[in-house]
Order: sequence, then C-alpha cells, then structure tokens
Amino acid sequence: MTIQDRARLPEAPDDGAANDRGRLLSMCFGYVASRILHAAVRLRIPDALADDEHSGTELAAVTAARPDSLRRLLRGLEHIGVITETRPDHFALTPMGHHLRSEDPGSVGSMIELFCAPQIWRAWESLDQAVRTGETGFTREFGAGFYDHCAQDPSLATALRDGLGQEALKVAPALATAVDFSRFRTLVDIGGGNGALLSAVLAANPALRGVLVDTATGSEPDSAPLREAGVGQRCEHVVADFFRDVPTGGDAYLLKSVIQDWDDEPALQILRTCRRAMSSHARLLLVEYLRDARPPTASDVPLRDLLLLTTSGGHVRSEKEFADLLARSGFQLVSTTPVDRSYHVVEAAPSEIAGSGTASAIQ
Ligand SMILES: C[S@@+](CC[C@H](N)C(=O)[O-])C[C@H]1O[C@@H](n2cnc3c(N)ncnc32)[C@H](O)[C@@H]1O
Repeated sequence: MTIQDRARLPEAPDDGAANDRGRLLSMCFGYVASRILHAAVRLRIPDALADDEHSGTELAAVTAARPDSLRRLLRGLEHIGVITETRPDHFALTPMGHHLRSEDPGSVGSMIELFCAPQIWRAWESLDQAVRTGETGFTREFGAGFYDHCAQDPSLATALRDGLGQEALKVAPALATAVDFSRFRTLVDIGGGNGALLSAVLAANPALRGVLVDTATGSEPDSAPLREAGVGQRCEHVVADFFRDVPTGGDAYLLKSVIQDWDDEPALQILRTCRRAMSSHARLLLVEYLRDARPPTASDVPLRDLLLLTTSGGHVRSEKEFADLLARSGFQLVSTTPVDRSYHVVEAAPSEIAGSGTASAIQ
C-alpha cells in the first residue's frame, strides 16, 4: 500500500467514537425493550412463570403462542434481564422480572400497559411536530385532547386508571409520612383516579374522611382500592369537572399529578375552582415532580416532561413556577417537601390567610 493509498483510507475510529455510536444505536433500540416488556405483560408471561421455572413448550401452551416465536421473545426477555434460562429451554423470572407479576406488591405491569398503550405510542409519532408547534402528539393524532379522548376510549381510560393507581400506591406510604394528615378532618382528592392514593392515606389516618373527585370515566363509583383497603365507608365519590366546580367543605384539597397535566391557563382554572370551593382555613396539597428539585430527585424528569408534551400538553414545573401559579389563583406557597425520589408536596394556603394577597387574585 502506497502512502497515497493510506491517505485515502477513512481514519480508524478511536474507541470513544465507536462507543458513542454504539450507545446511540442502543438508545435507538430502546423501543424494542419497551415493546418486549409490553408483549410479555400482555401475554401474561410473568404471571405464568410466577415462582416456578417453566419450559418454552409449557409457556407456549399457557400463553396460546407459537412455540418458535415465543422462544424468540423469551430470548429477548432474557437479554434485558427479566427472565433467566435456568437449564436448557427452561425459564424463570429474575428478581427484577418478579415486579412484572400482577400479584407483586410493587408491580409495574399496569404502568407498562399504560405507558406502552397503542394510543400513547401513536402520539409519540408526532413528537417532532409537537416540538415545532406546541400541539400535543395526542391531539394531532386523535383530533382531541388526551382526557377528552379518554372519555370516548374505554381501553385507554381503564389503562390510565389502573396504571396511575399502581404508580400512586408506590408514593402513598411516603406521602402519608411526609404530610401530617391528622391536622385534617376531610381530605378532598381532586382528579383522584381510581382512589388508590386516597385509600392508602385514609387507611393510615383512621379519623380522616375522604372525598374522591374525578370524571365519570376517570373513576368508578365502587372504587376497588377504597373497598379493598376497608375505607369505603369513610369516603364519598363525586363526579365533577374540575374546570367548573368541586365539592366545598374539605379542609385539605389534594391534587396529585394533576397540575402537571396542563399548560398554565387550564392549570390556573383548576386552581381557581379549588380556591372557590375552599374556606380560608383549608390547605391545598399539590403532589408533583419538581423540575429544579435540590438535590435532584427523579432522574427521569426530562423524559416525564416530554411525555406530558406528547399526551396532555402540560409540563413539569419549577418551584418558582408553582409559586407564580399559586399567587395568580389566590394562594400562597407555604412549603415544599420531598416525598420520595420522584415527588414533592407543594403546600399552599389561601392568600388572605397566608398574610399577603387577597381572594381578589382569583379571576
Ligand atoms: C394524571 S391523572 C392523576 C390521577 C391521580 N391523582 C394519581 O396521581 O394517580 C389526572 C386525573 O385527572 C382526571 N381529570 C382529567 N380531567 C378532569 C376534569 N375535567 N375534571 C375532573 N378530573 C379530571 C383524570 O381522569 C385523571 O384521573
């Protein structure tokens, strides 16, 4: 090879560049991991494996799948660490895989069914457009806002209730510790979904009464979590639109993951509806991700924020952005307390009680 030939050869990539390209491609393949997990949950493979090892043939029979295709899925699940091959053609769940079982107390199966739901998957298709125009991927794909669409789409409404209920149960014990609920007699959970969070808070506070408020599709009259926690007698279920009115008479109004769903104008409308329903002594408790939590808590905040851009059109806010929204809706921020690795509770009081501003701030 002449010197001139050598000069024409592309430079051999150094290891750093090759690694970076590899990382980019594995991020690109991240969707395959999502799809594998979703298919496994839908086929109920984690429940089929439960505490025993099973052969590929047995699993194919239980899941009514083609044995050859199922084995390929099993190899994929092994690759991402959900199952392990214990002996030739026999599989068992790894400790991580156990959290996909529906019976596991920390199960994330319903959350996977929600976040990988076909409708949400389709909305991500328009992320670049959402970035250009601000219109959510969901509205672009379905011609309706996320919650308006949920009202017409029972499968998404069910996935939402179950998935968020499962997520709420994870934060509930830490919330019951972070907030002194014994100060209150009646807790109104606005946009409380299937009641999972309220049921856990009521179970931890036997003197507390609850009011679960949501739309007709967002909640169920006979909430399973409230019934199963044995607190149904202490809880009323109210169907209401939080843009119009919510029940009066509570001394604490809880909104978990509600304000983040909305851009500023609709978020202000929800807060003002709450303010109108509240006495001057009642407290507002927002349980939310904080964009500027110090020290940083949830590492997936930027990804959650993009999920909101794709679906409902809201965003993860900073503490100052919450303080501003609260001031514009007749409240004053009282405190911000970390709940767990993901959530903070932002407590606010009606502004005339907090000493600055007046209820005239509510328009
Ligand atoms: C992100 S989910 C939060 C659910 C629950 N707070 C949690 O964290 O698990 C938002 C909730 O707001 C409810 N919602 C949406 N629009 C509403 C409206 N106009 N009035 C009352 N609730 C509404 C939804 O049905 C849903 O349950």
